[in-house]
Amino acid sequence: MEKCIPVDRLARPDDWIVVRSRQAREIRDEQGMDARPLPFDEEALRARLHGIYTGELQAMEAAGRTLFDFPDAPWEFQLDMARQVWDESRHAEIFQRLVEYMGAKPGEYVETEILWRCTQAEDPAARVAGINRGLEGLACDVFDQLIRIAQRNGDEVIERAVDYVLADEITHVRMGSKWMRKLTEGDPERLERARAFQEMVDEVFNFRGGRRAQEDIAVDDGLILTIAREARLLAGFTEEELQRLVESTRKSSAY
Ligand SMILES: [Fe+2]
Ligand SMILES: [Fe+2]
Repeated sequence: MEKCIPVDRLARPDDWIVVRSRQAREIRDEQGMDARPLPFDEEALRARLHGIYTGELQAMEAAGRTLFDFPDAPWEFQLDMARQVWDESRHAEIFQRLVEYMGAKPGEYVETEILWRCTQAEDPAARVAGINRGLEGLACDVFDQLIRIAQRNGDEVIERAVDYVLADEITHVRMGSKWMRKLTEGDPERLERARAFQEMVDEVFNFRGGRRAQEDIAVDDGLILTIAREARLLAGFTEEELQRLVESTRKSSAY
C-alpha cells in the first residue's frame, strides 16, 4: 500500500492552483509585496483566511489518510482520526464561509503544499506527532493571534468562529500527545524519532523567525506570531516541551 501520497494527488477543482510555499514567496517578492504582510490589512486578512481554509482541507485529508494508512493501529486511535476528519471538515466549512464573508471565493488565492509536506511519515506515532502536535500546535498559535486581531478590529464574527475552531484544535493536539506517547510505550527510540519528526515540522514554521516566544518580543501588538502557551498547556504540552519549542524559535530567529 502506498503511504505518503504526493500533494498533486489531492482532489481539487481544475482551476485551483497549488504551489510550493517558496514559490508563493518568490512571486510575492517579484511583485514587490511584503513577504509577511500585516494581518490587520483587509486584503492580507482575506488571503490569510483563505490560507487557513486550504490548511483545514489538508488537515481533513491528512487525518483521513492517517486512518487509511494504518489499519493495524488500535481501534481507539482510528476512532480519534475519524472524529478528526469530521471536525476538520467543519473547520473547512467555517473558514470557507469566513472567506466568503470577507468578499472572496474559494480558489481565488493559491494553495500552498507546505502542510501536506509535513504529513509524510511512515510511522503513526511520528505522523500524529508531526500533524497533531506540530501542525495543529501551530494552528493554536495562528488562531490565538487571529482572535486577537479580530478583537482589535471589533469583528465578532471572525472572533467567535475562530474561537470555536481553536477549542477543537486543542483536543486534536491533545489526541496527538496521547497517541504519540501510547504508541511508543516501552520504546524510547521510537518516541525520540516521533519527537524528531515533530521538531522538524516545528522548525519549518519557525524559519526566518516567523514565530517567537511571547517573552522574546518587546511589544505584543499582534503582528508577530507567538506561541499560544495557554492553549498548548491545555493540549498536553509539558513545560519542558514548551521550552524546547521556545529554544527552537530562538535558534531560527538568529538566521
Ligand atoms: Fe482544523
Ligand atoms: Fe485540527
